[in-house]
Amino acid sequence: MRREIISCSTPLCFPKAKIAFPVEEPKPSKVLMVPNEECPCEVTVSREDEFETEAGGGCMVGVKSPFNRIITPMALKIPHFTLNDGTEMPAVGLGTSLAMFGGGERVYQMCLNALKAGYRHFDTAAGYGNENEVGRAIQDSGIPRNEIYLTTKLANPDHNRVQAAFEKSLKDLDLEYVDLYLLHWPQAGKDRAELWGDAVFRPDESPTFVETWKEMEKLLESGKVKSLGVSNFSIKNLEILLPHCTVVPVTNQVELHPCLPQNELKDYCEEKGIILTAFSPLGFPLPNRPGLIKNETIKALANKLSIDVAQVLISWGVQRKTVVIPKTENPQRMASNITLVQLSPEDMKVLDDLHRQPKMHRSIAVSSIVSAKGRINGWTCDEMGWPEHLYRLDI
Ligand SMILES: NC(=O)c1ccc[n+]([C@@H]2O[C@H](COP(=O)([O-])OP(=O)(O)OC[C@H]3O[C@@H](n4cnc5c(N)ncnc54)[C@H](OP(=O)(O)O)[C@@H]3O)[C@@H](O)[C@H]2O)c1
Repeated sequence: MRREIISCSTPLCFPKAKIAFPVEEPKPSKVLMVPNEECPCEVTVSREDEFETEAGGGCMVGVKSPFNRIITPMALKIPHFTLNDGTEMPAVGLGTSLAMFGGGERVYQMCLNALKAGYRHFDTAAGYGNENEVGRAIQDSGIPRNEIYLTTKLANPDHNRVQAAFEKSLKDLDLEYVDLYLLHWPQAGKDRAELWGDAVFRPDESPTFVETWKEMEKLLESGKVKSLGVSNFSIKNLEILLPHCTVVPVTNQVELHPCLPQNELKDYCEEKGIILTAFSPLGFPLPNRPGLIKNETIKALANKLSIDVAQVLISWGVQRKTVVIPKTENPQRMASNITLVQLSPEDMKVLDDLHRQPKMHRSIAVSSIVSAKGRINGWTCDEMGWPEHLYRLDI
């Protein structure tokens, strides 16, 4: 049996597979293939088909059916992390930002495909302008709401109207509740018409992020939000926030990948019971920039393991106990992005050490939102609590 990703030859075919072992286990035991009745292709796999996998260092990520049809394992068991309020969050979710405002039907189709592919965790935001499409896909999938984990976020210009902004998000999503509501950025925007940009209040001007957080805490009483978290918070700003918290954030969503492993922040947050969520885990590749997908070190590791570069990056993140939210509209990538592999300690070290190579420790995604004045959504690096060199070195 080969250890490699293999895809169904029929586009949009999503035969499901259950991998009957937790990802933490070093040696896989059995793979149980489950037929997808809705699949239009002719793949027929019966429930009885169990496969003994080869014992070996890595996990099984693809198998051939006994009928020699190529099938893709989709509904891989993704681990759940228990958060500091006792709730559970799937360790991999689908990022839904198309790197532009909105996205309409593209977002709806992406989420529907992802639900078919086994995704049960979605990351959206008021600032992405796509809550409606994400919510509609969840409803139309017919999957019970309580099997899906949904995150949305408070936009910068809404810090002084938390309750109204949250109600608006719920209305746009057309859902009864959200699992997680994040303070998207620490800075409060001045201009309702400007989602991002330099027109923001200074850290000591009202509404400060502490004031905004206290308003967010009140939302928990309604039962319409299960957990609260923050995003883009440094140790410096968490040190200001945490003494005022009645509710400690369950997560801090930040840019995180092997070039920006956030080691210090991770240690700090773990000590406070806050789990990190990794945004831009692939280094935010776009058609005109490779992100980390073409990195030679990671490619060599992926080739050695016969898997994709993205799988290496996502598995590394999950194995470090961070939640990972890659975005893709491509059904084949959707499938491979939720097919985690067990990386050996040696492989983990290669990735852990990558940012120590010359010029490799850097931010890849955030550099794209630094304004001409060198501000990050209007704040200086010092106000953000971020070392300046991180985003200055671009790819
Ligand atoms: N809290 C924040 O401030 C913040 C900031 C940024 C992002 N986020 C969240 O994090 C999510 C993910 O971050 P991101 O979208 O910036 O970056 P990302 O997930 O690192 O990269 C997304 C890009 O990678 C491509 N891609 C996905 N899977 C791939 C694969 N297996 N092989 C090759 N390319 C692949 C996608 O293209 P295709 O679609 O064509 O596959 C897309 O262009 C966002 O969608 C958003 O939900 C949060």
